[in-house]
Amino acid sequence: MVDTADRKLIEDTPKAISRRNFIKGVIAGGAAVASANYLFRAATMPGQSPPAGAGERLITVNVNGRQRRVDIMKQETLAWTLRYKLGLTGTKLGCDRAECGACTVLIDDVPHYSCSMLTHTVRGRKVVTIEGLASADGTLHPVQQGIIDEQGFQCAFCMSGFIMATVGFLKTNPNPTRSQLAHGISGNLCRCQDYDKILTAMMRGAEITRRTHGA
Ligand code: FES
Ligand code: FES
Repeated sequence: MVDTADRKLIEDTPKAISRRNFIKGVIAGGAAVASANYLFRAATMPGQSPPAGAGERLITVNVNGRQRRVDIMKQETLAWTLRYKLGLTGTKLGCDRAECGACTVLIDDVPHYSCSMLTHTVRGRKVVTIEGLASADGTLHPVQQGIIDEQGFQCAFCMSGFIMATVGFLKTNPNPTRSQLAHGISGNLCRCQDYDKILTAMMRGAEITRRTHGA
C-alpha cells in the first residue's frame, strides 16, 4: 500500500537516472563526493597523534595547474594529501601499498602510484589528477569520453586510476595495439575483473585522442 506522501515522492523522482549519466558524473572527477570532512581532515586518523618530530610543514605543490599551499607531514603520501587535504577524492586508495594502481596520478606526465610517493618529493613538479583532465568548459578528456561511449566499467572504483594510466601511456605511444595498451596499463588492477570492456573503452579513448589531438 503506497500512501499519499510516498506516491508524491515516487512521482517527483526523475524517471531514469541512466547508467550513462551516472558514470558521466563519476568520470568528471568525483568532485561531488569531496566533502568538508575530507577537506578538513588531519593527516592523522582520529585518535592518533603524530609521531615525535613529525610536525606539519607548509609547502606548495602544483596540482592540476594550480599552486596549492598545504600543510603536510614529512611521511605523508601524495594520495593522502590529495584526498584528505586538498579534497581531490577522485584519486582512490585501494591497497595503499603500490599493488593496485587505483591511486594513479600523473607527475610530469608520467603515471605514478600516489600512495607510494611522499608529498614533499613532488615540489616543483606538475601533478595531474582525474579532476584536472576535463577542459575548463567541462569537455571531457578523450579517454574519459571513450569510457562514456563504451560503458567500460562495473563499479568503477578502479576507473580513475585506469584513466590516468592510459592518458600517461598514450603520451608515449598514441597509436598502440590492443596488446600494447594492455601491457602499458598492466600496473592497474580491477577487482570486478572487467578487463575486456576496460580495454575496449581505453582503445576507444586512444582513437578519440588521435582524432582530437591530431596524433
Ligand atoms: S592504492 Fe596505490 S597502488 Fe593501490
Ligand atoms: S570496475 Fe570495479 S574494481 Fe574495476
